[in-house]
Amino acid sequence: MSKRGVFICIEGIDASGKTTHARRLVENLRGKGLDAVYTTEPTSGEIGRLIQTHILQSQKRVPSVIEALLFAVDRIEHVENMIKPALREGKIVVSDRYVYSSLAYQGAAGLDLKWIEEINKFAIQPDLAIYIDIPAEVVFERLRREKSVMENFQTQCKVREVYLKLVEDGKLILINGNRPTGEVEKNLLVTVLKSIEKH
Ligand code: TMP
Repeated sequence: MSKRGVFICIEGIDASGKTTHARRLVENLRGKGLDAVYTTEPTSGEIGRLIQTHILQSQKRVPSVIEALLFAVDRIEHVENMIKPALREGKIVVSDRYVYSSLAYQGAAGLDLKWIEEINKFAIQPDLAIYIDIPAEVVFERLRREKSVMENFQTQCKVREVYLKLVEDGKLILINGNRPTGEVEKNLLVTVLKSIEKH
């Protein structure tokens, strides 16, 4: 592996199992003797906490421009304070959500993807960006509840459409999440190890 670490992000609709998989990936990489760290967006920093209260737990959605801008500010802090330092130390950084979440969620809300890219241009390019795909129907069958302002069926269907478009454009690598957890976990690990080898 080169001196700089490896930056991987994991994406998916709400309740797609992506957090479980991102955490297991980190454990599995550590099990192979690799120095991996888990991190997530929104962060637990000041802006991340503001996002939780002002956006995610609010009664109705705030204008999507405000969402996009706040997530972008939180991301700058994430990149500067956590991701870049860990990469400089040669770590494998696994981020549970990254800029593709803004493209998918705020894009699905009607914002221009180019503008979202523009306000996120400081966000360094990941070495590998994975999307765990699962139809919203399957997730909602499992979930049977609405947790945050984003978690309604129609929104999640639209978000998935944008994710699939990003896969089509070659920006994300799709892993089928609609399988037994163990299979998804193995597929994810093999994909990531291949990418690390090439790095
Ligand atoms: P989660 O981390 O539990 O999936 O929740 C984060 C929520 O925030 C989820 O509904 C997706 C949403 N989100 C955006 O809308 N835009 C973003 O840029 C990010 C990072 C998250």
